[in-house]
Amino acid sequence: MKQDMIVILDLGSTQNTVLAREIRDLGVYSEIYPHDIAPQALKDLPNVRGVILFGGENRVVDGQEIDVDPALYDTGLPFMAIDHAPARCGLTFASWEQAQPHIREFVFETCGAQANWNMKNFIDDQVEAIRAQVGDSKVLLALSGGVDSSVVAALLIRAIGKQLVCVHVNHGLMRKGESESVIEVFRNQMDANLIYVDATDRYLDKLAGVSDPERKRKIIGAEFIRIFEEEARKLDGIEFLGQGTIYPDIIESGTKTAKMVKSHHNVGGLPEDMKFQLVEPLKQLFKDEVRQCGLQLGLPESMVYRQPFPGPGLGVRCLGAITRERLEAVRESDAILREEFEKAGLNKRVWQYFTIVPDFKSVGVRDNARCFDYPVIIRAVNTVDAMTASVERLDWDVLERITGRILKEVKNVNRVCYDVSPKPTATIEWE
Ligand code: XMP
Repeated sequence: MKQDMIVILDLGSTQNTVLAREIRDLGVYSEIYPHDIAPQALKDLPNVRGVILFGGENRVVDGQEIDVDPALYDTGLPFMAIDHAPARCGLTFASWEQAQPHIREFVFETCGAQANWNMKNFIDDQVEAIRAQVGDSKVLLALSGGVDSSVVAALLIRAIGKQLVCVHVNHGLMRKGESESVIEVFRNQMDANLIYVDATDRYLDKLAGVSDPERKRKIIGAEFIRIFEEEARKLDGIEFLGQGTIYPDIIESGTKTAKMVKSHHNVGGLPEDMKFQLVEPLKQLFKDEVRQCGLQLGLPESMVYRQPFPGPGLGVRCLGAITRERLEAVRESDAILREEFEKAGLNKRVWQYFTIVPDFKSVGVRDNARCFDYPVIIRAVNTVDAMTASVERLDWDVLERITGRILKEVKNVNRVCYDVSPKPTATIEWE
């Protein structure tokens, strides 16, 4: 292992991740562990140079104040404590504010850590760890083409090459060119073992006539598990399942001191008899670090900086019961919007932008005759955490250009609207 590490022990602070980020920003790798880590487990972690006990408002769990095992101090590592005063911990600060100016000194002078945390070293370390974990066995990975699954695929390819089997399921609700780019990057450029399943007809048949958004979501999710399972059963010698779990997924699923925000799901729901061990090499990375890792592994910027795209894909943007005609209108108008946003330099600035096609028509006029066609609704929003969102103040010329192209190039459409509603009261998606 190449990188020195500072371990943060979670004693109920809500700032653990902020501290980990600060230490990583100093160029030193840092990971967070539960307060009840065993002394031997701490000793077994690679290249630990020091430990910070971080207490805070969640320190009382089930009516009891939690503490670390005092035997940890016999490991000989330097310790520092924040908001916490165990008898034997030398360096103690009463608050985060007081501790902050001393972090650098603790990391470099007290612990003697080297500033050797960078993506190249991270990748080298992970490659070594993945090889040690997997041995000669095979790893199965659901490759959606999203940032996390793409980066984990690229890292696993670097580590174990053809021992990785990627399954890309095209549910027919992908954006224009997206499945093609997964095939181009992973099969053609990275020579990956990639199974491509075109399940478009299967999905559209299952979804025919279904208009309730939650039922649509359930069908799309359940069908994915079924297809992935069918593919997995055809393969031999798979012991591991690769997952693009990243650090925020773990935090949101709850730690020993913090409550669950939402259950963390990547490929959950596989049948009980299909037991895999997990390979999750990104699970300590924050989103921007995942992107850096992807770039370092040679993934294209368009994949690494891809805007968030919901699991059910265009299925929740083709409102009501999905038809091929309206799905095509969503896909084509979305492609135009993305192209024009890129030309205008908005793709790097606006958080999420897409089009929606509702299941009603309006009257219009085309070639001197009455027409009765669908509208396209444009949505472009900015947000930090997707819990609230504000509308992008789109330049009128850009809006006109996009409108002109959609009306000219997209079939069955005669009207374009811009959604100016913030969240709340509107959600980002329409379904
Ligand atoms: P809303 O519409 O709830 O969206 O304001 C917030 C963010 O979540 C995305 N989203 C989803 N992502 N599966 C996903 O993986 C879903 O079913 C889903 N629904 C919404 C949405 O695109 C936005 O970024």
